[in-house]
Amino acid sequence: MTSFSATGPALAFDAVSLTLGRTDILQNVSFAVAPGSVHALVGPNGGGKTSLVRTLLGQTPHNGTLSLRWPGSEAGVIAYVPQALDFDRGLPMTVDDVMAAMTQRRPAFLGLSPRRAREIGEALARVGLKDKRRRRMGALSGGERQRVLLAQALIPRPDLVVLDEPMSALDEPGARIFADLLASWRASGTTVLWIEHDLAAVTRWADRVTGLNRHILFDGRPADMLTPERLLGLFSSQAAPAAAVKAARDLYPDLLEEVQ
Ligand SMILES: Nc1ncnc2c1ncn2[C@@H]1O[C@H](COP(=O)(O)OP(=O)(O)OP(=O)(O)O)[C@@H](O)[C@H]1O
Ligand SMILES: [Mg+2]
Repeated sequence: MTSFSATGPALAFDAVSLTLGRTDILQNVSFAVAPGSVHALVGPNGGGKTSLVRTLLGQTPHNGTLSLRWPGSEAGVIAYVPQALDFDRGLPMTVDDVMAAMTQRRPAFLGLSPRRAREIGEALARVGLKDKRRRRMGALSGGERQRVLLAQALIPRPDLVVLDEPMSALDEPGARIFADLLASWRASGTTVLWIEHDLAAVTRWADRVTGLNRHILFDGRPADMLTPERLLGLFSSQAAPAAAVKAARDLYPDLLEEVQ
């Protein structure tokens, strides 16, 4: 077992359930995230991943307990990268405007403090967008907008990072930048909870992975959990074989190529 010198919190989900209207979104979800670890959350579309992190961020009423245990006496900084920013492409906002709105605590009419302006420049440089500060968001590619979302999560420096499909629109250089961010969070003991569809990336970069489809499907080390045989087995225990293979193939197209 790896040991971490963490500045980030430990997370514990204990029998968390969530019902919206008549739909059970989450049923009896229990798992733990070790402090300072990179913990991935995977599962099919509509499986409740975004809903689960919303409960963590206090945005949804739920049953059960959710706890964050900080290493010090005070709560640290939480950064959130929401799922695909659906900014209206016509919005007349620049990259700088969005960074200011998402990172600034003081009222907007006071303008940006010089310190915050400098931090925004540094964060945009880290994601390779230094030259695009004055661009309208609508004039950026999907991958570039995803980078803006990552950049805002760097200010102020977080102790817990919650990422909802941060690689969805990233190109190859963008993915490398994301890998560097993960590595630096790991090195600083930041706790990372990372929703991801790309299982190759999860296998490479996560310390642990939890599978979620309304309830917990599996929880363990990626190398042990994300094997084709195991994934097929998980699905076939719940459905007719043909439906199981289809469900598994939809969820894990790359890994399952070899077993078809
Ligand atoms: N406010 C809401 N009211 C009712 N149902 C909702 C609400 N928000 C989400 N749902 C439903 O909850 C289920 C889980 O959705 P959620 O967005 O958490 O899944 P997800 O795992 O993040 O999916 P994806 O991989 O597509 O992002 C879906 O069936 C969705 O339609
Ligand atoms: Mg989601």
